[in-house]
Amino acid sequence: GDIANGEQVFTGNCAACHAGGQNSVQQEKTLELSSLKSYLANFNGDESAIVYQVTNGKNAMPAFGGRLEDDEIADVASYVLSKAKAGW
Ligand code: HEM
Repeated sequence: GDIANGEQVFTGNCAACHAGGQNSVQQEKTLELSSLKSYLANFNGDESAIVYQVTNGKNAMPAFGGRLEDDEIADVASYVLSKAKAGW
């Protein structure tokens, strides 16, 4: 995915709850790599589990399928994975 575009998507749709890779709603479920490994369903080190959760939502996180284009979801997942690997 296009990481630069993903940053724009993140700022517009995710940062309200995930500023700086944190989680203002459920504080332990951050976007840090260690948290993705612990809490994100089916996370295997690539973007696919992020794409799945963004598309479908989970608990208090809304679903973005139908609100964002598939390529926007792919881009924001690439951005989140890149930042997680870099330690935000
Ligand atoms: C969890 C990404 C928007 C609230 C997560 C996780 C990811 C993620 C990857 C898994 C983190 C983990 O389990 O450690 C995104 C992206 C967003 C977005 C890319 C924008 C497209 C939002 C928004 C909210 C939100 C707007 C608040 C209204 C949550 C909550 C969880 C979560 C509450 C924990 C869900 C659970 O396991 O119960 N998010 N998120 N997210 N997010 Fe988001």
